[in-house]
Amino acid sequence: MKTAATGFGTQAIHGGERHQNPCGALNVPIYQNATFVFDNCHQGGKRFAGEEKGYIYSRLGNPSVAALEERVALLEQTEAAVAFSSGMGAITAVIWSIAAAGAHIVADITLYGCTFAFLEHGITRYGVEVTFVDLSDPANLQRALRENTALVYMETPANPNLKVIDIPAIAATAHKYNPKIMIVCDNTFATPYLQRPAPLGCDVVVHSATKYLNGHGDVIAGLACGKAEFMQTVRFFGLKDMTGAVLGPFEAFLILRGIKTLEVRMERHCDNAEKIVEYLLRQPKVERVYYPGLAEHPNHAAAQKQMRRFGGMLAFEVKGGRAAGEKLLDNLSLCVLAVSLGDAETLVEHPASMTHSTYTPEELEASCVPAGLVRLSAGLENPEDIIADLEQGFAKI
Ligand SMILES: Cc1ncc(COP(=O)(O)O)c(C=O)c1O
Repeated sequence: MKTAATGFGTQAIHGGERHQNPCGALNVPIYQNATFVFDNCHQGGKRFAGEEKGYIYSRLGNPSVAALEERVALLEQTEAAVAFSSGMGAITAVIWSIAAAGAHIVADITLYGCTFAFLEHGITRYGVEVTFVDLSDPANLQRALRENTALVYMETPANPNLKVIDIPAIAATAHKYNPKIMIVCDNTFATPYLQRPAPLGCDVVVHSATKYLNGHGDVIAGLACGKAEFMQTVRFFGLKDMTGAVLGPFEAFLILRGIKTLEVRMERHCDNAEKIVEYLLRQPKVERVYYPGLAEHPNHAAAQKQMRRFGGMLAFEVKGGRAAGEKLLDNLSLCVLAVSLGDAETLVEHPASMTHSTYTPEELEASCVPAGLVRLSAGLENPEDIIADLEQGFAKI
Protein backbone atom coordinates (compact mmCIF):
# COMPACT_ATOMS: atom_id res chain seq x y z
CA MET A 1 0.00 0.00 0.00
CA LYS A 2 1.68 3.17 -1.15
CA THR A 3 -1.10 5.75 -1.18
CA ALA A 4 -0.79 8.67 1.23
CA ALA A 5 -4.56 9.21 1.04
CA THR A 6 -5.42 6.89 3.93
CA GLY A 7 -5.25 7.76 7.62
CA PHE A 8 -2.18 7.27 9.81
CA GLY A 9 -3.62 4.29 11.71
CA THR A 10 -4.54 2.53 8.46
CA GLN A 11 -1.09 3.09 7.00
CA ALA A 12 0.52 1.84 10.21
CA ILE A 13 -1.40 -1.44 9.82
CA HIS A 14 -1.37 -1.97 6.05
CA GLY A 15 1.78 -0.14 4.84
CA GLY A 16 4.65 -2.34 3.68
CA GLU A 17 5.14 -4.46 0.66
CA ARG A 18 2.63 -7.26 0.26
CA HIS A 19 4.81 -8.82 -2.45
CA GLN A 20 7.34 -9.71 0.27
CA ASN A 21 4.75 -12.31 1.18
CA PRO A 22 4.24 -14.91 -1.59
CA CYS A 23 1.91 -17.24 0.39
CA GLY A 24 -0.51 -14.48 1.36
CA ALA A 25 0.06 -14.83 5.12
CA LEU A 26 -1.63 -11.97 7.01
CA ASN A 27 1.71 -10.85 8.45
CA VAL A 28 4.98 -10.55 6.53
CA PRO A 29 6.88 -13.78 7.33
CA ILE A 30 10.18 -13.82 9.20
CA TYR A 31 12.71 -14.47 6.44
CA GLN A 32 15.35 -15.90 8.76
CA ASN A 33 18.06 -16.05 6.10
CA ALA A 34 21.61 -14.78 5.80
CA THR A 35 21.79 -15.34 2.06
CA PHE A 36 19.55 -15.74 -1.02
CA VAL A 37 19.89 -18.21 -3.88
CA PHE A 38 20.69 -17.05 -7.45
CA ASP A 39 19.35 -18.97 -10.48
CA ASN A 40 22.74 -18.66 -12.17
CA CYS A 41 25.98 -16.62 -12.20
CA HIS A 42 24.55 -14.15 -14.69
CA GLN A 43 21.70 -13.33 -12.29
CA GLY A 44 24.06 -13.05 -9.30
CA GLY A 45 26.25 -10.62 -11.22
CA LYS A 46 23.26 -8.54 -12.30
CA ARG A 47 22.01 -8.27 -8.70
CA PHE A 48 25.41 -7.17 -7.46
CA ALA A 49 25.61 -4.61 -10.27
CA GLY A 50 22.19 -3.26 -9.25
CA GLU A 51 20.78 -4.15 -12.69
CA GLU A 52 18.20 -6.61 -11.36
CA LYS A 53 15.96 -6.33 -8.30
CA GLY A 54 16.21 -9.11 -5.76
CA TYR A 55 17.89 -10.12 -2.56
CA ILE A 56 21.57 -11.06 -2.21
CA TYR A 57 22.64 -11.20 1.44
CA SER A 58 20.81 -9.93 4.53
CA ARG A 59 23.37 -7.21 5.31
CA LEU A 60 22.28 -5.60 2.02
CA GLY A 61 18.56 -6.27 2.35
CA ASN A 62 16.04 -8.78 3.67
CA PRO A 63 12.30 -9.09 2.81
CA SER A 64 11.07 -8.86 6.44
CA VAL A 65 13.28 -5.83 7.06
CA ALA A 66 12.25 -4.28 3.71
CA ALA A 67 8.57 -4.43 4.74
CA LEU A 68 9.40 -2.49 7.91
CA GLU A 69 11.46 0.04 5.97
CA GLU A 70 8.63 0.63 3.52
CA ARG A 71 6.06 1.07 6.27
CA VAL A 72 8.16 3.58 8.21
CA ALA A 73 9.00 5.57 5.06
CA LEU A 74 5.26 5.79 4.38
CA LEU A 75 4.55 7.01 7.93
CA GLU A 76 7.38 9.58 7.87
CA GLN A 77 6.38 10.70 4.34
CA THR A 78 9.86 10.10 2.94
CA GLU A 79 10.86 8.28 -0.24
CA ALA A 80 12.80 5.55 1.55
CA ALA A 81 13.99 4.19 4.90
CA VAL A 82 16.81 1.94 6.11
CA ALA A 83 16.57 -0.17 9.27
CA PHE A 84 19.41 -0.76 11.75
CA SER A 85 20.17 -2.93 14.74
CA SER A 86 20.03 0.13 17.04
CA GLY A 87 19.17 3.80 17.08
CA MET A 88 22.89 4.54 17.46
CA GLY A 89 23.51 2.39 14.37
CA ALA A 90 21.09 4.58 12.40
CA ILE A 91 22.50 7.86 13.73
CA THR A 92 26.16 6.99 13.18
CA ALA A 93 25.55 5.47 9.72
CA VAL A 94 23.78 8.66 8.62
CA ILE A 95 26.55 10.90 10.00
CA TRP A 96 29.33 8.74 8.46
CA SER A 97 27.45 8.99 5.15
CA ILE A 98 27.43 12.81 5.24
CA ALA A 99 30.55 14.00 7.05
CA ALA A 100 34.12 13.38 5.83
CA ALA A 101 37.41 14.85 7.10
CA GLY A 102 37.30 18.64 6.75
CA ALA A 103 33.54 18.85 7.24
CA HIS A 104 31.77 20.84 9.94
CA ILE A 105 28.67 19.82 11.88
CA VAL A 106 26.34 22.05 13.89
CA ALA A 107 24.50 20.12 16.61
CA ASP A 108 22.04 21.16 19.26
CA ILE A 109 23.37 21.29 22.83
CA THR A 110 20.76 18.88 24.19
CA LEU A 111 21.07 15.36 22.85
CA TYR A 112 20.76 11.75 23.98
CA GLY A 113 24.01 10.93 25.84
CA CYS A 114 25.52 8.51 23.30
CA THR A 115 24.68 10.78 20.35
CA PHE A 116 26.50 13.57 22.20
CA ALA A 117 29.44 11.23 22.90
CA PHE A 118 29.67 10.24 19.21
CA LEU A 119 29.63 13.88 18.08
CA GLU A 120 31.90 15.25 20.83
CA HIS A 121 34.40 12.40 21.27
CA GLY A 122 33.91 10.07 18.28
CA ILE A 123 33.65 11.72 14.87
CA THR A 124 35.97 14.58 15.95
CA ARG A 125 38.84 12.00 15.97
CA TYR A 126 38.50 11.76 12.17
CA GLY A 127 38.99 15.41 11.15
CA VAL A 128 35.36 16.53 11.50
CA GLU A 129 34.60 19.65 13.55
CA VAL A 130 31.44 19.91 15.63
CA THR A 131 29.92 23.10 17.07
CA PHE A 132 27.22 22.73 19.71
CA VAL A 133 24.67 25.56 19.90
CA ASP A 134 21.16 26.04 21.26
CA LEU A 135 19.05 25.48 18.15
CA SER A 136 15.86 26.60 19.87
CA ASP A 137 16.99 30.03 18.60
CA PRO A 138 17.68 29.92 14.81
CA ALA A 139 19.92 33.00 15.20
CA ASN A 140 22.44 30.73 16.97
CA LEU A 141 22.48 28.47 13.91
CA GLN A 142 22.94 31.45 11.61
CA ARG A 143 26.06 32.45 13.58
CA ALA A 144 27.48 28.90 13.63
CA LEU A 145 27.11 28.08 9.92
CA ARG A 146 30.32 27.88 7.85
CA GLU A 147 31.25 27.26 4.25
CA ASN A 148 32.13 23.65 5.13
CA THR A 149 29.02 22.95 7.26
CA ALA A 150 27.67 19.65 5.94
CA LEU A 151 25.10 18.75 8.55
CA VAL A 152 22.81 20.20 11.20
CA TYR A 153 21.74 17.72 13.87
CA MET A 154 18.90 18.00 16.40
CA GLU A 155 16.41 16.12 18.53
CA THR A 156 12.96 17.56 19.08
CA PRO A 157 11.52 17.11 21.65
CA ALA A 158 15.00 16.61 23.08
CA ASN A 159 16.12 13.94 25.49
CA PRO A 160 15.90 14.46 28.46
CA ASN A 161 14.60 18.01 29.04
CA LEU A 162 11.86 18.13 26.35
CA LYS A 163 13.29 21.21 24.67
CA VAL A 164 11.53 21.83 21.35
CA ILE A 165 13.22 23.15 18.22
CA ASP A 166 11.30 24.95 15.48
CA ILE A 167 12.01 22.53 12.62
CA PRO A 168 10.89 24.72 9.66
CA ALA A 169 12.86 27.71 11.03
CA ILE A 170 16.07 25.65 11.38
CA ALA A 171 15.66 24.00 7.97
CA ALA A 172 14.98 27.35 6.29
CA THR A 173 17.99 29.03 7.96
CA ALA A 174 20.40 26.24 6.99
CA HIS A 175 19.06 25.71 3.47
CA LYS A 176 19.08 29.44 2.74
CA TYR A 177 22.77 29.53 3.68
CA ASN A 178 23.53 26.43 1.61
CA PRO A 179 20.83 24.16 0.15
CA LYS A 180 23.26 21.21 0.29
CA ILE A 181 23.42 21.19 4.11
CA MET A 182 21.70 18.05 5.39
CA ILE A 183 19.28 18.62 8.27
CA VAL A 184 18.99 15.51 10.43
CA CYS A 185 16.26 15.23 13.07
CA ASP A 186 15.91 12.53 15.72
CA ASN A 187 12.14 11.96 15.90
CA THR A 188 12.26 9.24 18.58
CA PHE A 189 10.28 11.15 21.23
CA ALA A 190 7.51 12.34 18.90
CA THR A 191 7.15 9.46 16.40
CA PRO A 192 5.65 10.17 12.97
CA TYR A 193 2.20 10.09 14.55
CA LEU A 194 2.86 13.31 16.46
CA GLN A 195 5.36 15.03 14.15
CA ARG A 196 6.78 14.58 10.65
CA PRO A 197 10.14 16.34 10.27
CA ALA A 198 10.61 15.59 6.54
CA PRO A 199 7.62 17.58 5.22
CA LEU A 200 8.69 20.33 7.66
CA GLY A 201 12.05 20.64 5.85
CA CYS A 202 14.42 17.98 7.24
CA ASP A 203 16.49 15.85 4.88
CA VAL A 204 16.85 12.86 7.18
CA VAL A 205 14.74 11.55 10.06
CA VAL A 206 16.32 9.09 12.50
CA HIS A 207 14.74 6.93 15.18
CA SER A 208 15.60 4.73 18.05
CA ALA A 209 12.91 2.20 17.05
CA THR A 210 13.67 0.56 20.41
CA LYS A 211 11.23 3.11 21.82
CA TYR A 212 7.70 4.00 20.66
CA LEU A 213 7.88 2.45 17.17
CA ASN A 214 8.31 -1.01 18.66
CA GLY A 215 6.66 0.00 21.91
CA HIS A 216 7.04 -3.17 23.95
CA GLY A 217 10.55 -2.99 25.42
CA ASP A 218 11.78 -6.18 23.75
CA VAL A 219 13.86 -4.98 20.77
CA ILE A 220 16.86 -2.70 20.12
CA ALA A 221 16.54 -1.14 16.65
CA GLY A 222 16.93 2.02 14.60
CA LEU A 223 15.62 3.61 11.41
CA ALA A 224 16.76 6.37 9.09
CA CYS A 225 14.39 7.92 6.52
CA GLY A 226 14.96 10.34 3.66
CA LYS A 227 15.30 10.75 -0.11
CA ALA A 228 15.80 7.46 -2.01
CA GLU A 229 19.19 8.44 -3.44
CA PHE A 230 20.68 9.40 -0.09
CA MET A 231 19.20 6.31 1.57
CA GLN A 232 21.03 4.20 -1.04
CA THR A 233 24.28 5.78 0.21
CA VAL A 234 23.28 5.14 3.81
CA ARG A 235 22.51 1.50 2.99
CA PHE A 236 25.54 0.73 0.82
CA PHE A 237 28.11 2.83 2.72
CA GLY A 238 26.85 3.76 6.21
CA LEU A 239 25.24 0.39 6.90
CA LYS A 240 27.06 -2.11 4.67
CA ASP A 241 30.62 -0.84 5.15
CA MET A 242 30.89 1.65 8.02
CA THR A 243 28.74 0.21 10.81
CA GLY A 244 27.41 -3.19 9.70
CA ALA A 245 24.55 -2.48 12.14
CA VAL A 246 22.04 -4.75 10.39
CA LEU A 247 18.57 -5.37 11.81
CA GLY A 248 17.58 -9.03 12.12
CA PRO A 249 14.34 -10.28 10.47
CA PHE A 250 12.78 -11.35 13.77
CA GLU A 251 13.27 -7.86 15.22
CA ALA A 252 11.74 -6.39 12.04
CA PHE A 253 8.71 -8.65 12.51
CA LEU A 254 8.28 -7.49 16.12
CA ILE A 255 8.51 -3.81 15.16
CA LEU A 256 6.01 -4.27 12.31
CA ARG A 257 3.68 -5.79 14.89
CA GLY A 258 4.29 -2.92 17.33
CA ILE A 259 3.70 -0.23 14.72
CA LYS A 260 0.19 -1.55 14.02
CA THR A 261 -0.92 -0.02 17.34
CA LEU A 262 1.27 3.11 17.23
CA GLU A 263 -1.64 5.53 16.85
CA VAL A 264 -3.72 4.13 19.72
CA ARG A 265 -0.67 3.76 21.94
CA MET A 266 0.50 7.34 21.30
CA GLU A 267 -2.96 8.72 22.10
CA ARG A 268 -2.91 6.86 25.44
CA HIS A 269 0.73 7.86 26.16
CA CYS A 270 -0.26 11.51 25.57
CA ASP A 271 -3.44 11.23 27.71
CA ASN A 272 -1.46 9.70 30.58
CA ALA A 273 1.40 12.21 30.31
CA GLU A 274 -1.08 15.10 30.45
CA LYS A 275 -2.71 13.66 33.59
CA ILE A 276 0.67 13.07 35.27
CA VAL A 277 1.73 16.64 34.41
CA GLU A 278 -1.47 17.99 35.96
CA TYR A 279 -0.73 15.99 39.11
CA LEU A 280 2.93 17.11 39.27
CA LEU A 281 1.90 20.76 38.93
CA ARG A 282 -0.28 20.30 42.04
CA GLN A 283 2.34 18.33 44.00
CA PRO A 284 4.00 20.75 46.48
CA LYS A 285 7.32 18.83 46.49
CA VAL A 286 7.84 19.48 42.75
CA GLU A 287 10.04 22.43 41.80
CA ARG A 288 9.48 22.50 38.05
CA VAL A 289 7.76 20.43 35.33
CA TYR A 290 9.10 20.12 31.78
CA TYR A 291 6.43 19.30 29.17
CA PRO A 292 6.00 20.92 25.73
CA GLY A 293 2.23 21.01 26.17
CA LEU A 294 2.45 23.53 29.00
CA ALA A 295 1.76 27.13 27.99
CA GLU A 296 4.76 28.21 30.11
CA HIS A 297 7.15 25.82 28.28
CA PRO A 298 9.64 28.14 26.52
CA ASN A 299 9.08 26.47 23.14
CA HIS A 300 5.35 25.77 23.48
CA ALA A 301 4.49 27.85 20.40
CA ALA A 302 6.85 25.84 18.17
CA ALA A 303 5.51 22.57 19.62
CA GLN A 304 1.94 23.67 18.90
CA LYS A 305 2.81 24.44 15.29
CA GLN A 306 4.60 21.20 14.46
CA MET A 307 3.19 18.51 16.77
CA ARG A 308 -0.25 16.86 16.76
CA ARG A 309 -0.10 16.42 20.55
CA PHE A 310 2.80 16.83 23.00
CA GLY A 311 3.91 13.26 23.62
CA GLY A 312 4.32 10.76 26.41
CA MET A 313 7.66 12.05 27.76
CA LEU A 314 7.99 14.52 30.61
CA ALA A 315 10.59 15.56 33.14
CA PHE A 316 10.55 17.29 36.50
CA GLU A 317 12.74 18.55 39.32
CA VAL A 318 11.98 17.71 42.92
CA LYS A 319 12.47 20.31 45.67
CA GLY A 320 15.64 19.28 47.48
CA GLY A 321 17.53 18.56 44.24
CA ARG A 322 19.26 15.35 43.27
CA ALA A 323 19.04 13.63 46.68
CA ALA A 324 15.28 14.18 46.87
CA GLY A 325 14.82 13.01 43.27
CA GLU A 326 16.78 9.82 43.95
CA LYS A 327 14.74 9.18 47.09
CA LEU A 328 11.56 9.42 45.03
CA LEU A 329 12.86 7.05 42.35
CA ASP A 330 14.03 4.50 44.95
CA ASN A 331 10.55 4.43 46.48
CA LEU A 332 8.38 3.92 43.42
CA SER A 333 6.89 0.49 42.91
CA LEU A 334 4.57 0.53 39.88
CA CYS A 335 6.72 2.98 37.91
CA VAL A 336 9.84 1.08 36.89
CA LEU A 337 13.32 2.49 37.51
CA ALA A 338 14.86 1.83 34.09
CA VAL A 339 16.29 3.70 31.11
CA SER A 340 14.63 3.51 27.67
CA LEU A 341 11.17 4.90 26.99
CA GLY A 342 8.02 4.46 24.96
CA ASP A 343 7.06 1.13 26.52
CA ALA A 344 3.73 -0.04 28.00
CA GLU A 345 5.28 0.30 31.47
CA THR A 346 5.85 3.75 32.99
CA LEU A 347 9.65 4.12 33.15
CA VAL A 348 11.52 6.63 35.31
CA GLU A 349 15.21 7.44 35.38
CA HIS A 350 17.81 9.97 36.50
CA PRO A 351 19.52 11.34 33.33
CA ALA A 352 22.62 12.81 35.03
CA SER A 353 23.69 9.41 36.35
CA MET A 354 22.16 7.20 33.63
CA THR A 355 21.23 8.13 30.00
CA HIS A 356 23.32 11.32 30.07
CA SER A 357 26.27 10.12 32.14
CA THR A 358 28.51 10.63 29.07
CA TYR A 359 28.28 14.40 29.80
CA THR A 360 30.52 16.00 32.43
CA PRO A 361 28.69 18.06 35.11
CA GLU A 362 29.75 21.24 33.24
CA GLU A 363 28.45 19.84 29.93
CA LEU A 364 25.16 18.90 31.57
CA GLU A 365 24.80 22.45 32.83
CA ALA A 366 25.60 23.86 29.38
CA SER A 367 22.98 21.50 27.91
CA CYS A 368 20.31 22.69 30.37
CA VAL A 369 20.03 19.30 32.07
CA PRO A 370 19.81 19.94 35.85
CA ALA A 371 21.61 17.40 38.07
CA GLY A 372 18.35 16.60 39.84
CA LEU A 373 16.18 16.17 36.74
CA VAL A 374 13.91 13.10 36.73
CA ARG A 375 12.70 11.81 33.33
CA LEU A 376 9.41 9.92 33.08
CA SER A 377 8.06 7.94 30.13
CA ALA A 378 4.31 7.70 30.69
CA GLY A 379 3.22 4.12 30.11
CA LEU A 380 -0.13 2.69 29.13
CA GLU A 381 -1.34 1.76 32.61
CA ASN A 382 -4.44 3.33 34.15
CA PRO A 383 -3.34 6.88 34.96
CA GLU A 384 -4.78 6.86 38.50
CA ASP A 385 -2.46 3.95 39.36
CA ILE A 386 0.63 5.78 38.06
CA ILE A 387 -0.35 8.89 40.02
CA ALA A 388 -1.04 6.89 43.19
CA ASP A 389 2.43 5.37 42.94
CA LEU A 390 4.02 8.81 42.48
CA GLU A 391 2.01 10.12 45.44
CA GLN A 392 3.22 7.37 47.78
CA GLY A 393 6.80 7.95 46.52
CA PHE A 394 6.61 11.69 47.21
CA ALA A 395 5.24 10.95 50.69
CA LYS A 396 8.53 9.16 51.50
CA ILE A 397 10.76 12.17 50.71
C1 LIG B 1 16.42 10.26 21.48
C2 LIG B 1 17.26 9.02 21.33
N1 LIG B 1 17.93 8.82 20.19
C3 LIG B 1 18.71 7.73 20.02
C4 LIG B 1 18.85 6.77 21.01
C5 LIG B 1 19.73 5.58 20.77
O1 LIG B 1 18.94 4.48 20.46
P1 LIG B 1 19.34 2.96 20.73
O2 LIG B 1 19.43 2.77 22.21
O3 LIG B 1 18.24 2.19 20.08
O4 LIG B 1 20.67 2.74 20.08
C6 LIG B 1 18.15 6.93 22.19
C7 LIG B 1 18.27 5.92 23.26
O5 LIG B 1 17.82 6.10 24.36
C8 LIG B 1 17.34 8.08 22.38
O6 LIG B 1 16.65 8.31 23.49
